[in-house]
Amino acid sequence: MDASSEELPEHVSENRRYWDQMAGDWVDRGVRCWEASEPWWGEFEIPESQVGMLPPDMSGVDAIELGCGTAYVSGWMARRGARVVGIDGSEAQLATARRLAGEHGADLTLLHGNAEAVPYLDGSFDFAISEYGAAIWCDPYVWIPEAHRLLRPGGRLVFLGTHPLVTVCSPLDGSMPVREQLIQDYFTIHRSDWRDIADDPGGIEFNLPISGWLRLFRDTGFVVEDYLELQAPTTGAEVHDYVTADWAHRFPAEQVWKLRRSGGDDVAQGGAHEVDEVVGVEPTAGVRVDPAGI
Ligand SMILES: C[S@@+](CC[C@H](N)C(=O)[O-])C[C@H]1O[C@@H](n2cnc3c(N)ncnc32)[C@H](O)[C@@H]1O
Repeated sequence: MDASSEELPEHVSENRRYWDQMAGDWVDRGVRCWEASEPWWGEFEIPESQVGMLPPDMSGVDAIELGCGTAYVSGWMARRGARVVGIDGSEAQLATARRLAGEHGADLTLLHGNAEAVPYLDGSFDFAISEYGAAIWCDPYVWIPEAHRLLRPGGRLVFLGTHPLVTVCSPLDGSMPVREQLIQDYFTIHRSDWRDIADDPGGIEFNLPISGWLRLFRDTGFVVEDYLELQAPTTGAEVHDYVTADWAHRFPAEQVWKLRRSGGDDVAQGGAHEVDEVVGVEPTAGVRVDPAGI
């Protein structure tokens, strides 16, 4: 089915519209990240040596980036030897990704689609990753089970997004940066609809309380291997997208989850696997873990 003609959930079509409109603002960052010799992560560009998102050797690993944007993370994985698929909802973002992948000679499969319903067979990948992609723009009760479906037993899911404390400290009018004040309820964090705010309207984001993430992982069949709360290495009043370095030095603005799909050996460090064909496959996607049942 054509990715543009499918019936999409409200948040997926809104985020597609929002990112098509914003893509031009993210080209420079994409260029810089593609040029980086070593990966760095998040708003404060913390080096891979401190965050450990990627296996050092990804030879023979089938990897997917969920919400790849300009696809520099996909590029980093390809450089480490992985066969990489990047999926993104925004054609405009993918246009930048395709151009930069071409300029850097990276052989990536870049797909226009929805990271909550990926057109690949069950167990097609050893490694799945998201940095501010599905991690914050997709409904966790849909995309976490979908990532689980895509992974082989023992496969890994690693993602980085905003810490729930950021949601709690975000003003309701969407103004930035986040405040040093508890504003929104913590226990009901799930869907933040930013379409009607005064400041930079648009987009629907997701997060969960930490206990909500843990229950979701357990019920989906993921084991938590590590959890990081990233700290800005410097202080300062300048705003990094939504937060100042002062804030992010005192409080965690970003979280990293490192998960392993239960069962099987550790396949994400390498090992050859047959790649399933993508064409004409109807995935068993759209599985939802019911939060009320947790
Ligand atoms: C901030 S970018 C993150 C990607 C990458 N790290 C980057 O900075 O270029 C967020 C991306 O998530 C994508 N996205 C949002 N919702 C999506 C969905 N349901 N399926 C696939 N991609 C999605 C957006 O189109 C956007 O390119």
